[in-house]
Amino acid sequence: MKATILAVSLLLVAGLVQATEVEKKHNMHHGHMAADDRTSLNLSPAMKQHQLKNMRAHLAAIQDIIVQLSSGNFAQASNTAHQKLGLTEEMAAMCNSFESETFKELGLGFHKSADELGVVLAKGNTEDSLAALGKTMTYCVACHAQFKQ
Ligand code: HEC
Repeated sequence: MKATILAVSLLLVAGLVQATEVEKKHNMHHGHMAADDRTSLNLSPAMKQHQLKNMRAHLAAIQDIIVQLSSGNFAQASNTAHQKLGLTEEMAAMCNSFESETFKELGLGFHKSADELGVVLAKGNTEDSLAALGKTMTYCVACHAQFKQ
């Protein structure tokens, strides 16, 4: 019995090691082939730091919303959506300061969708809230796919 367990474990480990090697090769391959051809925003060093700080705050807000949602604190989740991700004057000014019209549109669309998320969260339905959160996050994904600093 012990020998069987050992044999099965060894097989599993061997499989894992092999899978990791394949993945490594795959990544290396792509690392060489695919250049980062996203549009650069040509930001100054100070703006870069400011943007990344904002982005980390966005990520923290998403996490907070998920944690609040999982405990049924819809009102608090809604507050976070409006206050940290919504279209505040500060966020609007920030987005409007970029030259790229596409970036501006994505940024403003993102903050507006976060306010819509806040409205949905306040209604207290988990499924609708998750759908709205998913919708807001499509802006994170879309913008990151298209732009780099
Ligand atoms: C309108 C564009 C846009 C939107 C919307 C956007 N981001 Fe970003 N984000 C960027 C850009 C540009 C960078 C820099 C990426 C690069 O240069 O590779 C970035 C970087 C980041 C980083 C890296 C931070 C660091 O310190 O390295 C995180 C995390 C991040 N974004 C999270 C988010 C999350 C979460 C959302 C949505 C809730 C979001 N972003 C929405 C444009 C956007």
